[in-house]
Amino acid sequence: MCGIIGYIGSREAQPILLNGLKRLEYRGYDSSGIAVISPKRNAISIRKSPGKIKLLEKVLKEKPVFGSVGIGHTRWATHGSPTQGNAHPHADCKNEIAVVHNGIIENFEALKLQLIKEGHCFLSQTDTEVIAHLIGKFYNDIPLEDAVRQALRLLRGSFAVGVISKRETAKMVGARLGSPLILGLGKNENYIASDVPAILGLTRDVIFLEDNEMAILGKDSFKVIDWHGQPVAKKPVHIAWDTASAQKQGYKHFMLKEINEQPQVLENLLNLRIDTKSRKINFKEMEICEDKLKDLKHIFIVACGTAYHAGIVGKYALESLCSIPVSIDFSSEFRYRDLLVGPDTLVIAISQSGETADTLAGAREAKKRGSIVISICNVLGSTLTRESDGVIYTHAGPEIGVASTKAYTAQVLVLYLFAFYLAQIRASMPVVKINRYLDDLNKIPKQIGMILKRQQTIAKLARKHAHFGSFLYLGRNINVPTVLEGALKLKEIAYIPAEGYAAGEMKHGPIALIDEYRAVVCIAVESKVFEKMVSNIQEIKSRKGKVIAIATEGNKEIKGLTSEVVYIPKCEEIFSPLLAVVPLQLLAYHIAVKRGCDADQPRNLAKSVTVE
Ligand code: G6P
Repeated sequence: MCGIIGYIGSREAQPILLNGLKRLEYRGYDSSGIAVISPKRNAISIRKSPGKIKLLEKVLKEKPVFGSVGIGHTRWATHGSPTQGNAHPHADCKNEIAVVHNGIIENFEALKLQLIKEGHCFLSQTDTEVIAHLIGKFYNDIPLEDAVRQALRLLRGSFAVGVISKRETAKMVGARLGSPLILGLGKNENYIASDVPAILGLTRDVIFLEDNEMAILGKDSFKVIDWHGQPVAKKPVHIAWDTASAQKQGYKHFMLKEINEQPQVLENLLNLRIDTKSRKINFKEMEICEDKLKDLKHIFIVACGTAYHAGIVGKYALESLCSIPVSIDFSSEFRYRDLLVGPDTLVIAISQSGETADTLAGAREAKKRGSIVISICNVLGSTLTRESDGVIYTHAGPEIGVASTKAYTAQVLVLYLFAFYLAQIRASMPVVKINRYLDDLNKIPKQIGMILKRQQTIAKLARKHAHFGSFLYLGRNINVPTVLEGALKLKEIAYIPAEGYAAGEMKHGPIALIDEYRAVVCIAVESKVFEKMVSNIQEIKSRKGKVIAIATEGNKEIKGLTSEVVYIPKCEEIFSPLLAVVPLQLLAYHIAVKRGCDADQPRNLAKSVTVE
C-alpha cells in the first residue's frame, strides 16, 4: 500500500531511490516518482511517471536528477486515479518542500477547502497534496520539522511521510502514524523506508518508528522526537536478512523462488522451534508466561487474505490437538463485531507484514477487552509485533511476490507448533503421541522438496488447463482452507474466477456450475474423508466436469477416475495442508505465466494493505 524511500548522504540519490523503489514495488505499482534537492539550482527536482517503476526509470534516463538528498514513492492509488499528476512526491505552492505519503488522510477534504480559501492552488486529486500545502503554510521562520509537526497534528487518518526542503538541504524528515516507517542507519548516510527490503544491501541497522514519532535525519545524524517535540530514545535493531534473500536469484519470478524456498524455510523453523533433546517447543520471543495460557477457555484467530486461510488450518489443528474451542474471523469483520472476548481468551493475530490495518485494529480491540494477544508475523519489529502481548516470528525471510506462498506455509507450520506447545503445557495429549506427531512434522520439508521435484509435470498440467474460464476447488475437513487458498492464488495472479468450497457443500449450489467447461481441482488425499471425496469426484465426472486431483502417492483409485492427478507424499492427515497447497501454488503460478500475467505484481493488489 504505497512504498516510501528517502536518502540523505554524499552519493547521488537517484540510483539509490530508484533501487529502493524497485524493492518496494510490491507495495503498490500504479505510478511512482522521486524528488531530489538540486543544490546548484537551489530547487527541488521532481520526476514522476504513471505505471511501473521501469517507466519512471525511462523518464530518469532522459531527464536525470542530481543531488544527495531525496525521497521516492511507489503508489497504490486511493484518492485520484494513477496519473502522472497524482503520483507522489507532491510540493507546496512555492515548490519549497516535497512530500511522499503512505496511508489515507480522512479529513483531507475539509482541510483542502480551507487551504483553497486561503489561496493555495492544488494540482492533484490526492489527499497527500494537503500535507504538502499545510507544511508550506506553517513553514515560515521555523525549522522544517516544526512545520511538519504542526501540519501532522491537524491530520486524521493514517500516514507515514517523508519530507525534504530546498531551504534546509542537509535535512530529511520522516514521521508515522498508523503506517510503517523505518530509519536505516549507514556510514555518513541515512535512509527512511516503508520496509526493510528497500534498504537491504545499504545497511542492516534500522530503527522502527512508532506512531506519533518523527525523525530528523542528517547524513551523519538522526534524532527522533514525538508530536510535542520531545526527544524519544531509540535503539537500532540489526536485521539478519541479507540482500540475496530480496533478489530473484535466477528465478523468473519472486513467487516461483518463494515457492521453491519452502522446504528450507520450514526446516529452519522446525530446527529453531523444537528442542532436539527434550522435544519441547520453544517460542523464546513470545514472552508470555505459560500459566496464562494453561487455563484458556477460548481462542480467537484473526487475519486477512492468505493469513486467514492459514488461520483456518490452525483452528482445525488447535481444536483437534488441544481440545480447545477456536473461532476465526476476517480481521475486517472481527473489529466491528460485538466481541465475546475477555481475559480468558487468547487472540492470535496472523499477518505476514504485521502492518495490515484491519488485523491491527482487531488486535487492538481484543487488547482493549483484556484478551491476551499473540501475533504470528514475518516482519521483525512491525507494528503488530510491537503491539501484541507476545509474538511468534515465522522467519520466512522477505516475501516479495504479492501472492503469499512461503509465508503461508510458515504460518501454518507455526500454528501446528503452537498447538503442540499448548498440548505440552496443558497436558492435553500424551507425550508419546506428541512426539510421534513431531517426527512426522519433521518429514514435511523433505516431502515438499519431493513435490517440487515434479514441478515440470505440474507446469504441463497448468498449461493444458490455462484456457478454462473458471475453476472450482473442492476439499474437505482440514483441506477446506487449502482449497480456499488454491482458489485465491488463481484469482489473484491469473485473474480467473475461482471458488474454493467445502466439497460436502457442493450439492447445495456449486454443482449447478459443473459442465464440460469447468475445471475442478479436488484434494483427495488419504484421510478419513477420502471416500467422500471420491463420491464428489464421481458426481463431477458424471456432469462432465474436468477433474484435476491431488492425491496421495500409491493411491490407485483416483487414477481410475481422472487422468489428471498430482501425487503428494503420504503424511499424517493433519499435516496434509502443508503438502497439498504446494501443487495449487504451482498450478496458479504456471497458469498465470501461460496467460501472460505478471505473477509477482498482479493488478490492483498490494502486498501490504495499510488502509481499511
Ligand atoms: C494482501 C496480500 C495477501 C495477504 C493479505 C494479508 O491482500 O495481497 O497476500 O495475505 O494482504 O496480509 P498480511 O500481511 O496481514 O498477512
